[in-house]
Amino acid sequence: MHTILVTGGAGFIGSHLTRLFVTKYPVYKVVNLDKLTYAGNLENLRDIAHYSNYHFVKGDITDLDLLRQLFKEHGFTAVIHCAAESHVDRSITDPLAFVRTNVLGTAALLQAARDSWGGELENKLFYHISTDEVYGSLGKEGLFTEKTAYDPRSPYSASKASSDHMVRAFYHTYGLPVKISNCSNNYGPFHFPEKLIPLCINNIINNKPLPIYGKGENVRDWIYVEDHVRAIDTIFHAGRVGETYNIGGHNEWTNIDLVKELCRQMDEKLSREKGTSAKLITYVKDRAGHDLRYAIDASKLKNELGWVPSLQFEEGISRTIDWYLANSEWLAHVTSGDYQNYYAKQYL
Ligand code: NAD
Ligand code: DAU
Repeated sequence: MHTILVTGGAGFIGSHLTRLFVTKYPVYKVVNLDKLTYAGNLENLRDIAHYSNYHFVKGDITDLDLLRQLFKEHGFTAVIHCAAESHVDRSITDPLAFVRTNVLGTAALLQAARDSWGGELENKLFYHISTDEVYGSLGKEGLFTEKTAYDPRSPYSASKASSDHMVRAFYHTYGLPVKISNCSNNYGPFHFPEKLIPLCINNIINNKPLPIYGKGENVRDWIYVEDHVRAIDTIFHAGRVGETYNIGGHNEWTNIDLVKELCRQMDEKLSREKGTSAKLITYVKDRAGHDLRYAIDASKLKNELGWVPSLQFEEGISRTIDWYLANSEWLAHVTSGDYQNYYAKQYL
C-alpha cells in the first residue's frame, strides 16, 4: 500500500510512469505535482484523469510550503521525482532555470520528505529519476557503469549531477531511504518535439529541414519509454535502498543513422517515394560542448532484478511514428504558441 507523490507527471516520462502506476496498482494513490511548464501537458494523462486513485496538483517543486502542506494532507509514503528542466539546448541558453528546478527543487523535496517522515522511515522511499548524462561523454569504446565517476559537461547534466549528490547526501547524513536510477535517451509517444526524434518526425510530416548538429556522428543509446518506466517499477518495488541502477536500451545509434532510419520508415508510412524525407537532412552548427557518446551498462539491473528492455528499436520507432501520425491534434497543440518562438531562436 502506497500513497505516492509523483513530480513532473505531466511530462514525457512522468506521464507514462503515472499511467503505469495508476492502472497497475489500483490500491496505490498517486498524486501528480506538476508546474505545467511548456513541457508539461495534462493531455498526456487524459485517459487516466478520471481514475479515483489519481489526483493532480498544479505547483512548483521549489515551493517548500506547498510541499509540506501536500505531505501533511496526503501522508505520502513514497516520492518518485521526475520533475526537471530536461532539454540540454535550453540549459545552454538559460542555465539558472535548470539550477532552480533541478537542484533547488530536488533539495526542497528531500527536505519536505525528511520533515514529514522524521524518524519513521520504514516503508518510506524517495526515488530520484536521473540521467546517464551525469557521467559525461564516452569515447568510441566503453560503457557507463554505476561506478563511473561523475563528469557532467552541460548546465543540464551538471544540475542533474548536483541533484543526485543531494539525494545521496540525504541518504548518508539523515538516513533518508533513497534510490536513484540513471537512464539513457528515451523515445516514444508524448515526447515533446524539441528533442531529436519527435522533432524530426514532426518536421518530416511538415516537409521541413531536419537539423543535424555538427557531422551527426554523436552516439546515443535509445530506450523505449515504456521499458524505462517498467524498469522504474521494478526498482521501486525490488531495488535496494541506497543503491543506484543504470537503465539503458543497449541500442546505440549515431544521430545521422538514426535520422536516416526515421526517414526510411516515414517514407513507407506516408507512401512517399523512397529517399524523399532524407533530402530534408540539413547539417547545422554543432551544440556547444556536445557530448560525443553515451552508452549504458545495465547489467546490475539485469543481474539483480531481472529487467531487460522488451522492444527492438525498429519496432519501437515504428510504434512511435504511428502514434505521432495518429495524434496530429496533440502535436498541433504542443507546437503552437511558444514552441514557434523557441524554434525560431534555436534553428532559424
Ligand atoms: P519533460 O521535460 O518531458 O517533463 C518534465 C516535467 O516536469 C514537465 O511536466 C514539467 O511541467 C515539470 N516541471 C518542470 N519544472 C517543474 C517545477 N519547478 N515544478 C514542478 N514541475 C515541474 O522531461 P522528461 O523527458 O519526461 O524527463 C523526466 C525526468 O527523467 C527528468 O528528471 C529527466 O532528467 C530524466 N531523464 C530523461 C530522459 C529522457 O531521455 N527524456 C532520460 C533519462 C532521464
Ligand atoms: O541521455 C539522457 C538524456 O537524453 C536526458 O537526460 C535528456 O533529458 C534528454 O533530453 C536527452 O538528451 P540529449 O541531448 O541526448 O537529447 P536530444 O534529443 O536533445 O539530442 C539527441 C542527439 O541529437 C544529441 O546528440 C543532439 C542531437 N540533435 C538534437 C536536436 C534537438 C541534433 O542533431 N539536432 C537537433 O535538432
